[in-house]
Amino acid sequence: MTSRPSVSLDKASVVYLDVVRALDGVSLEIGTGETVGVVGESGSGKSTLCRLLVGLTRPTDGAVSVEGQSVTAALKTDAKAFRRQIQMLMQDAVATLSPRMTIGSLMREAVAIHSLDRQETEARILALLERLRLPKSILDRYPHEISGGQARRVGVIRALLLRPSVLVADEPTAGLDVSVQGELLNLLLELQREMNLTFIMVSHNLHVIKRVTRRTIVMYLGQIVEDAPTAALFQRPAHPYSTTLLSTNPLLSAGGAANPIILQGEIPSNANPPKGCRFHTRCPVAQPACAQTMPELTKTDSGSLVRCHFPYSLALTSAHQQAGGSAD
Ligand SMILES: Nc1ncnc2c1ncn2[C@@H]1O[C@H](COP(=O)(O)OP(=O)(O)OP(=O)(O)O)[C@@H](O)[C@H]1O
Ligand code: SF4
Ligand SMILES: [Mg+2]
Repeated sequence: MTSRPSVSLDKASVVYLDVVRALDGVSLEIGTGETVGVVGESGSGKSTLCRLLVGLTRPTDGAVSVEGQSVTAALKTDAKAFRRQIQMLMQDAVATLSPRMTIGSLMREAVAIHSLDRQETEARILALLERLRLPKSILDRYPHEISGGQARRVGVIRALLLRPSVLVADEPTAGLDVSVQGELLNLLLELQREMNLTFIMVSHNLHVIKRVTRRTIVMYLGQIVEDAPTAALFQRPAHPYSTTLLSTNPLLSAGGAANPIILQGEIPSNANPPKGCRFHTRCPVAQPACAQTMPELTKTDSGSLVRCHFPYSLALTSAHQQAGGSAD
């Protein structure tokens, strides 16, 4: 990356309760306007990564910067200015809307503490309502009077009112019907392009990741195990864990006779991760060396970063590759 990254993590770790290594030495740089997906099993550290970026969780070790400024320092010196730069759509959108306030008050509240011009704020709320195809009348409703899809859109408006440069979305379409999901994703992508937002999105839905992002980060037990262009990852994943994730996604294998690779055993505990490669207790192609030495995140010939001693040793079936490689 030649220009200054929009977001960067340098060996960032988060340890909860002194024992749970939710994130372990994560380093990464994301450029302005990039769209990046984050995937991995439940408990792999995706939400912790999001919370770290927006300053809701502090790193136990390492450094996190947004637009060239340390998050920890920015929160100390000018928290308001920091919050205008980076906003997050929370995993549980409805819970973030206070039930006693109307949608209009909730939107105005989001900007009030930033002392923005009132007229300009009202004009921006109306413009965003139109962009997100919400009726003006929603401003007088209460959160329990609107649908889950509308609550997500209200969350998007609250996040974008401050014109941030970075938007972090934690499962933005979870729990929505497929058609509502599609519409919300289209709107998010349109706004991302118009505002040249740096967009980081967590999703369990690989179809969504493939459609929306250009780069994908795969996490396992608090570490990045693969960081690759989305198209390359879906065509030919390098890490065996990525291969298993892709192989079990019904949407990607629809129409193909591909066999899902089912992982044996539970994801190990973050409090007591396996020695050597963290995935070796479940990896279908593990070798004796894998239990001894932790692989580093290393660049492959195709430009992907992968944390594996034997990258590409577990391949997708050709049916999966055809389904994964085709454009939407
Ligand atoms: N506040 C907390 N206190 C203690 N442990 C926590 C806390 N928050 C998260 N954890 C633990 O840290 C690990 C990572 O959690 P995180 O929420 O980041 O995972 P995730 O990948 O977002 O999972 P999901 O897909 O279920 O949302 C898990 O083991 C989780 O139980
Ligand atoms: S290092 Fe070994 S155990 Fe780990 S993912 Fe690669 S092949 Fe599997
Ligand atoms: Mg989460």
